[in-house]
Amino acid sequence: MSHQTILVEKKGNIGIIQLNRPKVLNAINRLMVDEIVEQMEAFDRDPDIRVIVLRGNDRAFAAGADIEEMMNDTPISFELRDPFAVWDKMMLIKKPLIASVNGYALGGGFELALHCDLIIAAEDAKFGFPEVKLGVLPGAGGTQYLTKLMGRTKAIEWLWLGEPMTAQEAAHYGIVNRIVHPKLVEEETMRFAERLSKQPPISLRLIKEAVNKAVDSPLREGLQLERKNFYLAFDSKDQKEGMNAFVEKRAPHFKGE
Ligand code: HXC
Repeated sequence: MSHQTILVEKKGNIGIIQLNRPKVLNAINRLMVDEIVEQMEAFDRDPDIRVIVLRGNDRAFAAGADIEEMMNDTPISFELRDPFAVWDKMMLIKKPLIASVNGYALGGGFELALHCDLIIAAEDAKFGFPEVKLGVLPGAGGTQYLTKLMGRTKAIEWLWLGEPMTAQEAAHYGIVNRIVHPKLVEEETMRFAERLSKQPPISLRLIKEAVNKAVDSPLREGLQLERKNFYLAFDSKDQKEGMNAFVEKRAPHFKGE
């Protein structure tokens, strides 16, 4: 399928989506969100793919939602178009999603990275929510994700001032998983993705579901889901393989079955 705003590639078991509107620092327009999510869903269904990587280019992961496209929106145009329904679909992706961030990850670009399970960032990457300077606020989950990750005290300060945070600050607050030299971001992302691609895929998805449950539900509900998923894992061939490999003192080979 040909796309206008993204580039798509498969490297072994890894599906890569590259945001591709370089002239506007990968500003996210409506078509781009549609194309990203459609492609994530296609990779999620593709039995050859085990991990999905989302990346931009050297200058920007994405500098936010496309301001020119959005500037004449009204409450009613939003209500009728329901632009966040497609964002919500990202939360249903079951395979590991890794954001690989060079340069700017601002506004909707930061929110896109926060919809991923892991963020690998360049040392000089810049994260932030500048929406306040446009007289608005984040709309694709930024206030919620940031507050849950860093706590209210610091989140409200970042959101009110709208200044970018460095990758080091983002790492300090538990927002990014790894920071590396800008030239090594792609390599580190692929290394991480390959490592994950060798883990048992069914365990990974059951863990993702349980961890996501922990974020927004009472402990008892999370414990119930974890238990159900633990039982479910024992119906997979990979559980037999993993445990047999252990007692036979050999490396396991997981097939995702
Ligand atoms: C549309 C954008 C854009 C954006 C950059 N561009 N960001 N176009 N929407 N979000 C365009 C510029 O207009 C310019 O186009 C080109 O990209 C290069 O940008 P420059 O500003 O010339 O680059 P630079 O001086 O290096 O500054 C980089 C920057 C700045 C600091 C990232 O571009 C900037 O502040 N961008 C806006 C960031 C922002 O406010 N993001 C939040 C958006 S609101 P031309 O044609 O002049 O070359 C949002 C709400 C999310 O995200 C809601 C939920 C989805």
